[in-house]
Amino acid sequence: MTIKEVQNEIMRLKKENDICILAHSYEAREILEVADFTGDSYALSKMAKTAPNKTVLMCGVRFMAETVKMLSPEKRVILSNPIACCPMAEQFDKEIITQMKEMYPDYTVVAYINTTAELKTVCDVCVTSSSAVQIVNKIENKNILFIPDCNLGAFVAKQCPDKNIKLVHGGCPVHAAVTRKQAEDAKKLHPNAELLVHPECQPQVAELADYIGSTSGIMNYAVKSDKKEFIIGTENSIAEHLQYQCPDKKFYLLSKSLICENMKSTTLIDVLNCCRGNGGEEIELSPETITQAVKCIDKMIELGG
Ligand code: 13P
Ligand code: SF4
Repeated sequence: MTIKEVQNEIMRLKKENDICILAHSYEAREILEVADFTGDSYALSKMAKTAPNKTVLMCGVRFMAETVKMLSPEKRVILSNPIACCPMAEQFDKEIITQMKEMYPDYTVVAYINTTAELKTVCDVCVTSSSAVQIVNKIENKNILFIPDCNLGAFVAKQCPDKNIKLVHGGCPVHAAVTRKQAEDAKKLHPNAELLVHPECQPQVAELADYIGSTSGIMNYAVKSDKKEFIIGTENSIAEHLQYQCPDKKFYLLSKSLICENMKSTTLIDVLNCCRGNGGEEIELSPETITQAVKCIDKMIELGG
């Protein structure tokens, strides 16, 4: 079967079986083309709540599928490839954060959405990279314990100087591996290009950037800008998608290593198999986990607008 034939079969099956396909922007183009909704983590979380279908297929990583399940417990939620996880989401467990809460009882625990459902049960409010600053500013408490990404946390702390933000030492192994030297070299090599980076990059990289934002933020900025050249400091598929969308502009990679193997583990054939009912993994969460964990997602949507 050609890619087009596989895509046509997926389109037919998803209609027949009442399936909504959600795909994060880090997925490959051929997957985005068969999705009903694409976007960053925040957009996908909001979409999950409104999709009318009885089955949702998440092409992304496990915590994204868990978020859909929490928001729509009555739906069948399938993670297209069961091995697709976010290593950052697994960095802390419930016990460690519970102990930290005992150490810092006056702090509001703000969790990046890249956390497991289990961890969310002990957090107060979730944020995504596109909503973090707005949400933290709206929290009444001055004291914030921000988990698990210290780079995103440092970015938020800089934008919210009135808050007292405590960070923990976690983060994305893909974005955090980019060095300042790589950013300096890329800027020297492309002196007319603007540097756009994800806040999961280290602060010493982010401070060289012309724009810092979520995956959708970076894409919108580049599409709308009058500038013609950009160095993309997030997962390399974003540079590819932008090049496709804006053929008259030039997009350079900040680092060839900015590849999320987990996001990339989902293939178009995985999507086809899931639509045929014989692939992926159905997400199961206990009613107690859902009741407890969904509170911080609901709070995120309430404060994030
Ligand atoms: P976004 O919120 O920008 O989609 O980021 C998700 C993610 O995992 C980035 O690495
Ligand atoms: Fe997780 Fe990083 Fe991959 Fe995003 S890029 S899913 S934060 S490992």
